[in-house]
Amino acid sequence: MKTIQLHKGKKYSICSCGLSRALPFCDNAHREFNAKNGTDYKSVKIRPNETVEVELNSVNWKR
Ligand code: FES
Repeated sequence: MKTIQLHKGKKYSICSCGLSRALPFCDNAHREFNAKNGTDYKSVKIRPNETVEVELNSVNWKR
């Protein structure tokens, strides 16, 4: 579980694959993994309407 603050109007890209070295944010590691494994991982895009603190989690996050 990662707790982060998201700022109003800023675009965030959240990792769904668990391979990012910058969790909880996507660092595009999913692209190479998808190419090698035929998977279709994509980041989750968020642009909040107000500044909020959120708790994020994914079953793929091992770190
Ligand atoms: S690195 Fe995990 S979704 Fe992009």
